[in-house]
Amino acid sequence: MKTYLVTGGAGFIGSNYIHYMFRKYGSDIKIINVDKLTYAGNLENLKDLEGNPNYSFVRADICDKEAITKIFNENDIDRVVHFAAESHVDRSIKNPEVFVNTNVLGTAVMLNAAKAAWENEDGSFKEGKKFLHVSTDEVYGSLPDDGKSYFYETTPYSPHSPYSASKASSDMLVKAYIDTYHFPANITNCSNNYGPYQFPEKLIPLMINNALHGKSLPVYGEGKNIRDWLYVDDHAKGIDMVQEKGRLGETYNIGGHNEKRNIEIVNIIIETLQEILPDSDPRKKNVSKDLITHVEDRKGHDLRYAIAPDKIKAEIGWEPETMFKDGIKKTIKWYLENEDWMKNVTSGDYQKYYEEMYKQA
Ligand code: NAD
Ligand code: DAU
Repeated sequence: MKTYLVTGGAGFIGSNYIHYMFRKYGSDIKIINVDKLTYAGNLENLKDLEGNPNYSFVRADICDKEAITKIFNENDIDRVVHFAAESHVDRSIKNPEVFVNTNVLGTAVMLNAAKAAWENEDGSFKEGKKFLHVSTDEVYGSLPDDGKSYFYETTPYSPHSPYSASKASSDMLVKAYIDTYHFPANITNCSNNYGPYQFPEKLIPLMINNALHGKSLPVYGEGKNIRDWLYVDDHAKGIDMVQEKGRLGETYNIGGHNEKRNIEIVNIIIETLQEILPDSDPRKKNVSKDLITHVEDRKGHDLRYAIAPDKIKAEIGWEPETMFKDGIKKTIKWYLENEDWMKNVTSGDYQKYYEEMYKQA
């Protein structure tokens, strides 16, 4: 039985990944989820796993060397899947330091602890141990709006926001461990994810939540920026396939050729809500395109992201399975059916963040 150490498993992608892995492998794997539970971490995302003997949770900061080393000393970890990070670009523009701490120093702690636990006396590594660093396409910078240029694994790094600069630094550290020590790792650089359990500071859940409450829908600038959207389960599957079938030391881009302008996304959300909400639902009368409000643009706003997933398809056989039209419906339905989840995560600190961030909306 393989034992996984998952960092950041109480966040959006981490929790979807843990669900995916238990659906796929059942009791053939053990998962230890280590998470600091920042504003973005929510144990409610994993409440159905309470009492599962193959799942355990440790509350710890990945920057805490002692706590992380203790986990490696007490468990024979076979796989590390490293999600934990500060993940929101707008927050990084306001407060970069915590991004450097968690994303760079935290990754260094994870790499050191895994290296210490897995290294043999001669500098080689114990058979079968693997570390996967989950990263982002934002490290490659921004593409022109030409519909034909893409991010490849060979595209030079050119991060613009403090978030993407911190993720780029963490990728470089992983690459340095691979090159210097032959550390058994892979990096995945993925495009924008969407799906259940995403914190409503990010475009899709924020727009769904605001529309249901008749609140303005704050589109940055003209809304022409392009993102390449991938359903979160497809990302989870890609991560698992890279870890099991990828060549050690390699980077794989994950994305689904699904480019959309932000304004298109907002329109699709409104149209889908109008289509699926029954007339009897009081929230339906709130949902209208009149709520769209163009607000000040994000500083240094990257124009376009688009992944070329050729390598992962050719070498590993991964392809996205969820069509955007199905994934977005599934996602919206999930938020409609999980109003309490949204109420819980938007109480308290979220209100403060929202008021500061969207003063003019
Ligand atoms: P998220 O913000 O939803 O979750 C991050 C999780 O990490 C939270 O549970 C949080 O509590 C935890 N965490 C934060 N700081 C920590 C620390 N110091 N110690 C331990 N735990 C800590 O993020 P997400 O959207 O699920 O992203 C997960 C990973 O995937 C990140 O590394 C991100 O860069 C990467 N990624 C995200 C996307 C996306 O579209 N969301 C796309 C590509 C890559
Ligand atoms: O590309 C992968 C990245 O995708 C991940 O690495 C990040 O962790 C993740 O947060 C995401 O970054 P983005 O900045 O692309 O996602 P966000 O949802 O914040 O914004 C998507 C687009 O929508 C972006 O062009 C900014 C715009 N936007 C966002 C918000 C929150 C708005 O127009 N209005 C908003 O209120």
